Amino acid sequence: MTYQVRYYTKTGNTRKLAEAVAKELGVEALPISTPVTEKTDILFLGNSYYAFSIDPEVRDFVASLDKNKVGRIVNFGSAALLNSTYKKVKAEADKVGIPMDPKEFHCKGEFKGVHKGKPDAEDLRAAAAFARQFK
Ligand SMILES: Cc1cc2nc3c(=O)[nH]c(=O)nc-3n(C[C@H](O)[C@H](O)[C@H](O)COP(=O)(O)O)c2cc1C
Repeated sequence: MTYQVRYYTKTGNTRKLAEAVAKELGVEALPISTPVTEKTDILFLGNSYYAFSIDPEVRDFVASLDKNKVGRIVNFGSAALLNSTYKKVKAEADKVGIPMDPKEFHCKGEFKGVHKGKPDAEDLRAAAAFARQFK
């Protein structure tokens, strides 16, 4: 199995999760400004909700993916209120013909003093355990 980890973050929460996932898989967590050029079985994509949607940069990143290079996408992230960006990311992945794994990782993320300290050490352990099942 080959893996790559990409993330988009505004306040650092997704980067923490991405680093936990990447460490578990023995790869580097990279921002979505780094294109996926190598063939990979699983692309772990970290992203979040901002004003009830995913950031346009995440949309553009998924649109840039080549289905001949990316086997499937595994979604992960955090949010303050909403549960998961899965459906939003899947809508973009469907357009480029890349399957989304039905499994995903989600936890609460600190926003303006709410869910302070999240994702915390326990969340990072859970994110690593989530990634482990794909090895
Ligand atoms: C500008 C902005 C808008 C946000 N809008 C939402 C929202 O609509 N729904 C929600 O559940 N969380 C919202 N959040 C909270 C983030 O999803 C949450 O803090 C997440 O952990 C941020 O991840 P990041 O630090 O990687 O950017 C918002 C955060 C920011 C900074």
